[in-house]
Amino acid sequence: MSKANSNNNNDNNKVRIFDTTLRDGEQTPGVTVTPDQKVQIAIKLDELGVDAIEAGFPIVSQGEMQAVKTIANQGLKAEICGLARATEADINAAIKCDLKYVHTFIATSDIHMQYKLKMTPEQVMDKAVKAVEYAKKHGMQVEFSAEDATRSDRQFLLKVFKAVTDAGADRIDIPDTVGYRTPDYIAEIVRDVKSVTALPISVHCHNDFGLAVANAIAGVNAGAACAHVTINGLGERAGNASLEEFVMALEILYNKKHNINTKLIYETSKFVSNAMGIIVQPNKAIIGENAFGHESGIHTHGIINNPLTYEPIAPELVGRKRWLQAGKHAGAHGIRAMLEDFGIKPTDEQLKQIVEKQKNIADKGKSITTSELLAIAGEIMGST
Ligand code: KIV
Ligand code: ZN
Repeated sequence: MSKANSNNNNDNNKVRIFDTTLRDGEQTPGVTVTPDQKVQIAIKLDELGVDAIEAGFPIVSQGEMQAVKTIANQGLKAEICGLARATEADINAAIKCDLKYVHTFIATSDIHMQYKLKMTPEQVMDKAVKAVEYAKKHGMQVEFSAEDATRSDRQFLLKVFKAVTDAGADRIDIPDTVGYRTPDYIAEIVRDVKSVTALPISVHCHNDFGLAVANAIAGVNAGAACAHVTINGLGERAGNASLEEFVMALEILYNKKHNINTKLIYETSKFVSNAMGIIVQPNKAIIGENAFGHESGIHTHGIINNPLTYEPIAPELVGRKRWLQAGKHAGAHGIRAMLEDFGIKPTDEQLKQIVEKQKNIADKGKSITTSELLAIAGEIMGST
């Protein structure tokens, strides 16, 4: 069995991770990376353990072709794939990049067929089948996506999926192209698609309503073998399902297997953020600066006694460290722990004064950095 078919229904509990940071992620408004940066990111994704890397959209430019070809020839463990519209020209561009795996797509919703493609459903069906046949004739593994699947007429969508299955496709992808659906809907569409094809199914969920990760999880729980995800949730508009959130939810909340080395998650997130120039919001789950930071006295007290009180994920599991923050919510336990990290051991009375002083400053609307806290401690401990 080829690797493209190896990670699906044989191990029902193992979810295949198809990373599209270098394709949908690079479609984030304002982002462009050089071919060399794309190769560096692909190497990082491979180390992270993703099963498939969508390296780019070869037809779009010479630089893109050069990058995809270099990635295809890097000898990475992950399968390398390229995007192609359902045309011979696009598929030829993927072939020229030495790819063995193509992700071809055409839209199936009325609104896309009428206003974008200006094609009838029959023409769309014909193009989809011809594209799959053409790619198969050239020895490619083929993943077929029906763009805007979740807003498509269900009977037409199922007919298209059945036809491309008969034409030899290896995988079927269900894109929620404008992030328009909810988990119940995604679960139902996956079950429906499974009724017309035995091929492994992927879900490709966008985040327009902030539901991408929940939708991707609903998809795999309903029987999809794979989810398309991106590092830091990058992607068109509000982005795609974030790899970090999806994988950690699989691991901790659903006890499902995957091939990701979670300890490399933070490092990979930082690398991509720097390369693509998109800063991660501080309160983003798993990878945001605050995800493992604690200020409130009640929380830090709990954390110091047993981290599980306020940390559902151990920071080390995703390559991070917890940190404590001084401020008006901070309590004596947290401030003592912060000072002890620097070898500073105040008496109970000194600690009381330090906590009071930093709370007075915080009450004036000022946040307190670690060096300011150390200065306060020095002032008080030096003076008693
Ligand atoms: O969101 C989408 O529909 C896509 C397709 C190209 C699969 O990215
Ligand atoms: Zn997309």
